[in-house]
Amino acid sequence: MNYQILKIQIADRIAVVTISRPAALNALNTDFFKEFNHFLDDLEPRQDVKALVITGEGKAFVAGADIAEMVHMNSDEGYAFSTFGQRTFDRLELIKIPVIAAVNGYALGGGCELAMACDFRIASKLAKFGQPEMNLGMIPGYAATQRLSRITGLGNALYMILTADTISAEDALRIGLVQKVTEPESLMEEVMKLAAKIAGNGSQAVPVSKKLIREGISMDFQKASETEAIEFGKQFDNEATKEGMKAFLEKRKPNWN
Ligand code: CAA
Repeated sequence: MNYQILKIQIADRIAVVTISRPAALNALNTDFFKEFNHFLDDLEPRQDVKALVITGEGKAFVAGADIAEMVHMNSDEGYAFSTFGQRTFDRLELIKIPVIAAVNGYALGGGCELAMACDFRIASKLAKFGQPEMNLGMIPGYAATQRLSRITGLGNALYMILTADTISAEDALRIGLVQKVTEPESLMEEVMKLAAKIAGNGSQAVPVSKKLIREGISMDFQKASETEAIEFGKQFDNEATKEGMKAFLEKRKPNWN
């Protein structure tokens, strides 16, 4: 596909996707979702990519869903726009490899929702987070009403969505919406170090842990724990697990290859 909005770089087991529509602060439109789904189609079967980083070009991560596209919609089109975005973000959330949002600037509305569909968020000091939909007389449409409370708790989600206030990276860190705040100029360096660290961890244990955490949150606790025990048992047929434990006992670094 000839990408117009996404810039994709894949090197050293890490894929970096930069959303590049800076004239509209990287607002998410239908073309973005088509391109992003195409990218996921290519990425999902790949065994050589162990982590994905998503960032934005210019002063925004993503300033929301594209208001210029939404302004012309009727209710059926609004529903389709919402479900297309939701399905895409669900797909991103469940992809096997870990996904890091490198939040370089505004992450508003659909941008905050995209960041929340990533596994965790590292933010530049300049980043700003918010669900400002109320200012447009609308509600969020890419599952902020569900993910924000799961990530930050009910009070913070209700506060952010009902006030439409934008919060700083430091406040986002305080409520658990981001995991780390960096100097703007070192954001990508720190994110790439983190991605490389995860990509270098015992290969099968990373996707299995992600799947258990992601799927377990909407399962009954006992059932989710039982699923963990089944996966825990399966590891003992795995060379990587044996190598990890042997290396510890032999006081050396594990060789995952
Ligand atoms: N959709 C479409 N275009 C957008 C946009 C968006 N979400 N956000 C910014 N832009 C465009 C602006 O219209 C402007 O275009 P022009 O130069 O052609 O006029 C350009 O990007 C630059 O924006 P500003 O001039 O406004 O930049 P600023 O630095 O003064 O302000 C901002 C930055 C505070 C982020 C401001 O742009 C803003 O408030 N944007 C809208 C944020 C928003 O409401 N997001 C939620 C959208 S609804 C949603 O996301 C629903 C959902 O959950 C699915």
